[in-house]
Amino acid sequence: MNVLIIGSGAREHVFCWKIKQSSGCDSLYVAPGNAGTNKIATNLDINISNFQEIKKILIIKEIGLLIIGPEIPLINGLVDFIKQQPELKEILVIGPSISGAMLEGSKDFSKDFMFKHKIPTASYKTFNANTLDDGIDYLETIPPPYVLKADGPAAGKGVLILENLPQAKEELSNMLIHNKFGDSGNKVVVEGFLKGIELSCFVLFDGKSYITLPSAKDYKRIGEGDTGLNTGGMGSISPVPFADREFLKKIDAKIIKPTIKGIIKDKLDYVGFIFIGIIKVENEPFVIEYNVRMGDPETQVVLPRIKNDFLELMVKTANGKLNSVKLEIEKMAYANVVAVSNGYPEQYEKGKIISGLEIENDSIIFHAGTKNESENIITNGGRVLSVVSRADSFDLALKKSYQNIKPIKFEGKHYRKDLGFDL
Ligand code: AMP
Ligand code: GLY
Repeated sequence: MNVLIIGSGAREHVFCWKIKQSSGCDSLYVAPGNAGTNKIATNLDINISNFQEIKKILIIKEIGLLIIGPEIPLINGLVDFIKQQPELKEILVIGPSISGAMLEGSKDFSKDFMFKHKIPTASYKTFNANTLDDGIDYLETIPPPYVLKADGPAAGKGVLILENLPQAKEELSNMLIHNKFGDSGNKVVVEGFLKGIELSCFVLFDGKSYITLPSAKDYKRIGEGDTGLNTGGMGSISPVPFADREFLKKIDAKIIKPTIKGIIKDKLDYVGFIFIGIIKVENEPFVIEYNVRMGDPETQVVLPRIKNDFLELMVKTANGKLNSVKLEIEKMAYANVVAVSNGYPEQYEKGKIISGLEIENDSIIFHAGTKNESENIITNGGRVLSVVSRADSFDLALKKSYQNIKPIKFEGKHYRKDLGFDL
């Protein structure tokens, strides 16, 4: 079977690496991919927001399975588009239609879904430009810190957590009146603040049955000790030490099962990964958000732990046959350390030559913002590489990743030196 993966991050490099190990894979394509996927698959330089271009490639390359990595094509209706094309009706697709993708595409929609299906989450109210005054009144009735979320997709930047009331009021009007997050902030969800530790849970859903994949923890802040700006993710570990069997059972009963039931009951058209961001508050799980895809940098430590043939797993998911799958999970500790460009997560530099990539012994290097330029591999994004290791303990796994990230050189390379400090 020929496979196409949409996306260009480390998540997509992991998908590629995993599918490449399957004997069922004939030709493997990634669009647009990076210098890492280019080594093990064929990168296709196409514009992934042009659905007609994707259609052409699906036909020319005789694709049997399409995996959509990032959320934007899903929210913009790539799956709906494919389902409307008679020529593409045989293609198996991993990813929800717009109706399901709204769980990530609209915070208001997802909060409404959670309340409707009695899934534990923070209290909230939603406001728009016409109800700004009500929003300001509402802020006066709730205790700080204030959590303001742009309703629409904002690449992880649409959430503000503010300590004082005047600032919260000002930011609410910045979002609703002054278009701080563009159209994504036309509606704003104001949420109660939850204090706890976060983990990322992953579910694979075939439209009827689901299986739970290993969970992970990502390190979101740029600075040591979890300080500084939020990033896409500076590293990750799996399994999650503070999510023991009993807590995972609670997540299944109180969150995953009602989520699946709700998706079926509300007739959301959904096949693919469900990423549930969870916060543990005094031993109880609450949902922070849904994403309709795998996480990055979590995929780098979750997928390597899955022993099953990954292509077969994807095909069974797309064919509604997950009830026949028994997942086999490796128990070792996995750790991922991410190297980023100078300046990230604000404006960063690109085009720096990367060397030292060949020193890959005990770790796997997954590429994100990299590309080939003549003989060289150069930086092409904020997050550049993920160095993933496994060992009997997190200490050892992290040690290996730190040993192997050191010899990788590019101007302005930065990585957090303290991952695992909290374990
Ligand atoms: P989100 O995009 O909804 O995942 O929010 C981004 C980050 O903001 C989360 O990963 C949390 O760290 C934080 N956050 C979001 N909602 C809340 C909340 N209700 N209480 C505390 N922290 C939150
Ligand atoms: N690791 C968070 C995300 O993928 O959105």
